[in-house]
Amino acid sequence: MLPRYPLPMPTELFRAQVFHTPANPFESQGALEALSDGAVAVAGGRVEAVGDYSQLHRSYPAAQVSDHRDSLLLPGFVDTHVHYPQLPVMGAMGLRLLEWLEQRTLPEEARLADGDYARARAGAFLAALARNGTTSALVFGAHFASAMDIFFEEADRSRLRIASGLVVSDRELRGDLHIDPETAYRESRRLAGRWHGHDRLRYAVTPRFSLSCSEPLLEACGALAAEMDGLLITSHLNETPAEIAVVSDLFPWAGDYLETYERYGLVGARSLYAHDVHPTESELDRLAAAKATVCHCASSNTFIGSGLFPMRRHLDSGVRFALGTDVGAGTGPNLLKEGLAAYQAQMLHEHGFPLDAGHLLYLATAAGARALDLAEVGWFAPGMSFDAVVLRAPEESTLAEVWRHSPSAQATLSAAFTLAGEESVAEVYVAGERLV
Ligand code: GUN
Ligand code: ZN
Repeated sequence: MLPRYPLPMPTELFRAQVFHTPANPFESQGALEALSDGAVAVAGGRVEAVGDYSQLHRSYPAAQVSDHRDSLLLPGFVDTHVHYPQLPVMGAMGLRLLEWLEQRTLPEEARLADGDYARARAGAFLAALARNGTTSALVFGAHFASAMDIFFEEADRSRLRIASGLVVSDRELRGDLHIDPETAYRESRRLAGRWHGHDRLRYAVTPRFSLSCSEPLLEACGALAAEMDGLLITSHLNETPAEIAVVSDLFPWAGDYLETYERYGLVGARSLYAHDVHPTESELDRLAAAKATVCHCASSNTFIGSGLFPMRRHLDSGVRFALGTDVGAGTGPNLLKEGLAAYQAQMLHEHGFPLDAGHLLYLATAAGARALDLAEVGWFAPGMSFDAVVLRAPEESTLAEVWRHSPSAQATLSAAFTLAGEESVAEVYVAGERLV
């Protein structure tokens, strides 16, 4: 028989070395909170409390305890830029952006016209995200509406928090990836109507980049973005000098690359633009004023030789940014590795910003959550959703050895960013539900 009143949810205590960034470490000292014998109390998928284990154990004496003292407990990772069709093209060496697209990537993307293939790719892609501790992602989709329905179905089954959309293009690139503006609008509208706000899914208006979009197509994207509440907008911006030169030829009236999007209402607080390796000062000022976000894809920027991200200029101008793995130009769907790449790029940059593990954790979690307008995730606080990753070093691993000798909590977290791969992602939770 059902109880007449709902029973109180049992509380579970996750005991671990807890790390999270409730504040922005680029703005305040001490933003990284590290609890070496910490705990998060969780009930009904939500965080009830965060603190030292001894204190929480006193507050919740009857709670069941999951003992992860040998592990780190981090908020689930947020990937702001990753391509669903591109898992198989990772590792294509020796090519820069435009050749890489033409020779390796777009032929693979064309294969998603086949529904069975698209479904297999979607399943493998979403499993790779979860296996790497990514619990929320803005996913660059496919050029076929059929492949996007399939992707959303699989994303719904994955239980991850996914925003994505039909990628649209109508010039350059390959003809079999083109769509006319009217069909682009109609199909995107239909997909957004079906999937935006469906449980954990949201829709993102996704022109591939201005280089492959006519003005009527960008206008169609802007019309849809203005029509429905809460849609995200995503594309690419200022990735390589060769790409910027083509965009400048295609849009002779535009003062710069960003203006090609601004003209069509595509730059606002829910807009996320990948790369921005070569911005002008004016573009940075306008991105900041619009509260748009740049997806910093550090491993991709080095892998296809696009350049070193001018992080300090973004900070000085007040432009928001967060991490994206940019699979398949990036080197893997792992945000820890992406954090390491971001760190290395700043070490090499002439005016690099000195990142530490707190900055990296923030960029891999809270910054992305804010950019994706996900109010319930990104760090641990009462009332927030328990989206989390347990990182455990496999026995005999190099990470285990380094952790055993770690002199401080900062060093432990730095070692995780340096050495932890998917083999160290032991458990993954979304809203308290264990996925991995
Ligand atoms: N610009 C347009 N399409 C792409 C893509 O698939 N990857 C990257 N890195 N840049 C792009
Ligand atoms: Zn991309």
